[in-house]
Amino acid sequence: MKMRWILPALISAVVLSGCAGQTPPPPPEEALIVVGISQVGAESDWRVANSESMKAVFTESSGYRLLFEDAKQKQENQITAIRKFIQQKVDYIVLLPLRETGWDSVLQEAKDAGIPVIIADRMVDVADESLFVAHVGSNFRMEGEKAVAWLEDYARFTGKETLNIIHIQGTMGSTAQIGRTAALEQALKNHADWTLQIRLDGDFTQAKTYEEVKQYLSEQEVPPEIDVVYCENDNEAFGAIQALEEAGYTCGEGGIAVISFDATRNCLTQCLNGKISLAMECNPLLGPLTAGVIRILESGGTPEKEHYIEERSFTKETLTEEMIAARLY
Ligand code: AHR
Repeated sequence: MKMRWILPALISAVVLSGCAGQTPPPPPEEALIVVGISQVGAESDWRVANSESMKAVFTESSGYRLLFEDAKQKQENQITAIRKFIQQKVDYIVLLPLRETGWDSVLQEAKDAGIPVIIADRMVDVADESLFVAHVGSNFRMEGEKAVAWLEDYARFTGKETLNIIHIQGTMGSTAQIGRTAALEQALKNHADWTLQIRLDGDFTQAKTYEEVKQYLSEQEVPPEIDVVYCENDNEAFGAIQALEEAGYTCGEGGIAVISFDATRNCLTQCLNGKISLAMECNPLLGPLTAGVIRILESGGTPEKEHYIEERSFTKETLTEEMIAARLY
């Protein structure tokens, strides 16, 4: 076990905070906790904020050495990164998995090497749950259920008897896609008067969604009636809105209700402007929660297996300029 630096450093930081102009000395290199993070990529505004949150927490001044690998949306790159972390003998591996399946072997390798793995953001589907020590992230199914509950209210208040829905899915097989899709699927089963017009794969990106929606609309002989676009993240919503508006549709008040997940600042601005009807939050600021798990492990404790982050939803009625200005992402 390495001599850990965090506690003494915190104490000296507190002591020294009374001494003007003095900052605590940096920890010696060999005392740093080495954390290897395998990130999905940079496909969305959410993902960028998520990477920043991790990088802001795992700093040398806080006692960490961070090895950060961007997988550029490829699971094989994530597997390679984990193997590299094992060779580098990191103290902890943080995996933000692209999709749920395909991790058993590489996580077994990490376990055999004695390196605890923390899963962040999406979940993994592994036969042996002891392959990871904890998961920190969102309850994606619950996010979907909250969005669907809002849609039920919307249908009631607007008196719409039928709803024609376009569904833009995120990266297939990711927990975010699985949970949000499952909630809508269940709602479609519950409401015979809700029609799924088309399901498109937006892969959580603005560019792909724009192309998919544009292509779909161009293939229709008559412009389809669209009441709702259920986008599984903000960037998909931005791409869908662009394609729909170019085709002559109105999004927001008096037009198509756009539902979006993430609730980044740009989305909230469009929500306040009335273009996005529901912004369902997915909180990317997972750095502090992840570091919290590591602190528990460092002190010899056993962290809870599941840590869901708090999330809420926003509509034009519940938003203010001040809330958007205070938004960290
Ligand atoms: O897994 C979280 C999802 O992935 C976010 O909703 C999305 O924006 C990101 O790409």
